Order: sequence, then structure tokens, then C-alpha cells
Amino acid sequence: MSWFQADPVPSLQAISLCGPRSLSVIDIGGGASRLAGALVDQRRQDVTVLDISQRALTLARVRLGADGHQVAWIAEDITRWQPHRQWDIWHDRAVFHFLTEKQDRQAYLQALHSAVPKAGHVILASFALEGPETCSGLPVRRYAPEGLQAELREGFELRHSWEESHATPAGNMQAFTWCLFQRV
Ligand SMILES: C[S@@+](CC[C@H](N)C(=O)[O-])C[C@H]1O[C@@H](n2cnc3c(N)ncnc32)[C@H](O)[C@@H]1O
Repeated sequence: MSWFQADPVPSLQAISLCGPRSLSVIDIGGGASRLAGALVDQRRQDVTVLDISQRALTLARVRLGADGHQVAWIAEDITRWQPHRQWDIWHDRAVFHFLTEKQDRQAYLQALHSAVPKAGHVILASFALEGPETCSGLPVRRYAPEGLQAELREGFELRHSWEESHATPAGNMQAFTWCLFQRV
């Protein structure tokens, strides 16, 4: 749980750059993160969380209490998922970097292309080049903004990128690359 953050400030800041609070948001691999609750607190009406772990989703939903019903919860593997609708904002913190196999990244990007409309936003936060080589004991790919841009290929323009030093619950630092793209 080194990636855990009690207050998802960087995600909220990135999402606020995308436009008004009426925009729909999907948090890919949101798991037990507190982001969905923070978005509901902002009175956002259209919030979805997708995660491969039903257990993590249940934890997040129960923690929200009655507000849990205001969020749509999808238990799916992002590399196998076929989106049934589109969202204005695609947010992924520390999920894409787990996809070390090219075919998994291709499947992820296929879902992303189908779920994000023209003018929609994509927020990707992965470990930076100088970040850890593993996450939860699993190997990860580390990215500079150019690397994430290359993964998305054509059709997405980089609007903002920045680096974040995340302090883990154990007090270590993890370097993240954050990118905000817009589909053109
Ligand atoms: C490092 S955690 C990050 C959680 C959250 N995004 C955050 O920033 O706190 C990675 C999350 O991605 C989920 N995950 C891993 N592989 C996935 C996949 N193939 N499809 C969907 N979710 C996945 C895990 O269950 C976990 O909740």
C-alpha cells in the first residue's frame, strides 16, 4: 500500500484542470482510493470507479456510506473491459504502469479510445523514470511525459505535465509523472 494517499490532492488538482464539475469522471483502478468520495463531496453527479478487485471496490463503497450509491462501481480487468459508454475525464493513478506486456497496454488503450470522446481528458500518473522499479512487489514501467505521450500515440495532446514526490505511509518518497492529455 506504499502508493496510498489519505487525501487525493494531486488527483483533485489534475481533475480540476479539465473543466467544470459537471464533467463525468471514471477512475481506472480506483480500488479503495478516497478519490471517489472526494469527488462526491464536490457534488459531482457522474462518478465511476473501475477496479479488478471487487474487494477493494466494496471497501470504498462501504466507507462512503449512503454516498456510495452516488458512484457507479465496475469490477473489471481494464485489459478485458469493453466500455458501455463514454466519460469526459479518464483518471488513472498507478495502474497503467503495471502493464508491462505490450498486448495489455494495447488492450488498455483500446478501452481508453472507446471510452473517451473527442475533447475528453486523460490523466495518467505513473512512476517517474527515477521512481521505484516495483509497486506492491510487481515490476512496473516508469515513464517521463514523452513516454506516456508515445503510448497514447496520435490523437491526444499533452496539456500539462508535472512530477510529484509522493510520501509513502512509511515515509519514503516515490516520484510520480503526471500528465493531462486532451483528445483532439
Ligand atoms: C497501486 S493501486 C492504485 C490505487 C489508486 N488508483 C490510488 O491511486 O490509490 C493499483 C490499483 O489498480 C488495480 N488494478 C491492477 N490491475 C488492474 C487491472 N488489470 N484492471 C483494473 N484494475 C487493476 C488494483 O486492484 C489496485 O486497486
